[in-house]
Amino acid sequence: MQKEFTLHYEEYGSDRELAPGDAELLQTARKATAHAYAPYSHFQVGAAARLANGVLITGTNQENASFPAGICAERTLLSVAGAQHPGVPIETLAISYHNENGVSDRPISPCGICRQSLQEFEQRTGRPMRVILGGETGKVIVLERSGLLLPFAFSADELR
Ligand code: THU
Repeated sequence: MQKEFTLHYEEYGSDRELAPGDAELLQTARKATAHAYAPYSHFQVGAAARLANGVLITGTNQENASFPAGICAERTLLSVAGAQHPGVPIETLAISYHNENGVSDRPISPCGICRQSLQEFEQRTGRPMRVILGGETGKVIVLERSGLLLPFAFSADELR
């Protein structure tokens, strides 16, 4: 039997078409890129989240001379959320970047490890995490929940 996944997402021509709260969050993610530590890739990623209680938090990629020790902006942000705001779901997460070696005019999307981390955070807090993906300019993508980025996810259910 053939089965299929369908991925519904919204695409906007630019940040000007976003709802004001979403545009503000994307702008916060863009500004956060200034706090990335990316001397090796020269690719600064910023993540910003609005928590369910209205608090805004940010995260950036933090690289290391031992390359695998580096951590992405999204997982830095999830660590901030879990450590500083325990139990509070994320309502919306925005991700942006600044590419020193090129242009930043299209959305990027989280790496595989981050998708796994996002989906467990979403599952354990029990609230869909909206995701906004955008560069410094250009089109913007909005997903209604982060789990859409990871079909067939491995989860804690498998460990039981
Ligand atoms: N990176 C992120 O922080 N988030 C992503 O979604 C993609 C990649 C970081 C990891 C590394 O520091 C740099 O970008 C280049 O891969």
